[in-house]
Amino acid sequence: MIVNDAVLQQEWIVACLSSELTDKPKQVFIMGERVVVFRVGDEVHAFKDLCIHRGAALSLGCVKDGHLVCPYHAWEYNAEGDCTKIPQLPDNQAIPKKARAIVYGCEERYGMIWVNLSGNVETPRFSLPEFEDPSYRVVMWGPQHVEAKPPRIIENFLDVGHLAVVHEGYLGTSEHTEIGDYHMIHDEKGIRSEEIAIFQPDPDGSGQAKYVYYTYAIERPLTVKFTKRDQETGNLMTILLTVQPKDANTSIAYGIMLFNYDTGTSDEDTVKFQDMIFAQDKPVVENQKPEDLPLDLQTELSLKCDRVSIAYRQYLKKLGVQWGTA
Ligand code: FES
Ligand code: CO
Repeated sequence: MIVNDAVLQQEWIVACLSSELTDKPKQVFIMGERVVVFRVGDEVHAFKDLCIHRGAALSLGCVKDGHLVCPYHAWEYNAEGDCTKIPQLPDNQAIPKKARAIVYGCEERYGMIWVNLSGNVETPRFSLPEFEDPSYRVVMWGPQHVEAKPPRIIENFLDVGHLAVVHEGYLGTSEHTEIGDYHMIHDEKGIRSEEIAIFQPDPDGSGQAKYVYYTYAIERPLTVKFTKRDQETGNLMTILLTVQPKDANTSIAYGIMLFNYDTGTSDEDTVKFQDMIFAQDKPVVENQKPEDLPLDLQTELSLKCDRVSIAYRQYLKKLGVQWGTA
């Protein structure tokens, strides 16, 4: 089922991690659309995963001399989607003009492959300066499959109130569940929160419980981040979350974790910890009703501490993000 959302069709949507795309073509689903992504040298490309000849999945084929070769009758497509070779055609017959693949926008950025179904290269991308900053360590996270729609997953990531409940003992404590007031900032830099104080049992691995300060930023409809700051040490941790709408009901979450300090843990253990935290959220998110995030402010009852998620809902509403199916 194709997710027919005009706004998200224009978005750059995560297809997979760079490390998941080898020299073999890879099949992904984006909003129900079957897509093949492949590498040619330094470039990445994305086509509809469908050969116009007999509907074979091009992702079952291979890349040969910069061309994507269909697995069924070996028609070859160049990076622009033109069919350049049909082995069954006698030499004196021209390749039909209609022999083309459907080409999507595709680029590699921040350790991920991004696809734009509309091919609109003007759609803004988020920026993540920490990624290029050598004082930060980068750890990639995901894929994590979730039976929920992206806005619910994203809102969970923006939700301050649940930290001391769902992640009790890790990201909060039951003695400090209250959230102090804070406001959202809307300016030329985008939409973000003021710092929110969160009491954590052991934010830096030293065993000392203390307040740390979270700021949340809404980057794109399916991409958000938070930064956690330790006032005493100056330690900063940023986690960017981006979610792929796989089809109408399932999503794949990916993240980029950035640290300006030595966490004393391996990449593997850092990912494992994040997986464990995510596993605590998952059953909650997969069972929320309605599955579509309500964008009106009446359907659910918000508190002041929900200002980040209210801002996210308002942002989606303003952009006109639907979550319809066709
Ligand atoms: Fe692709 Fe025949 S189906 S070449
Ligand atoms: Co959580």
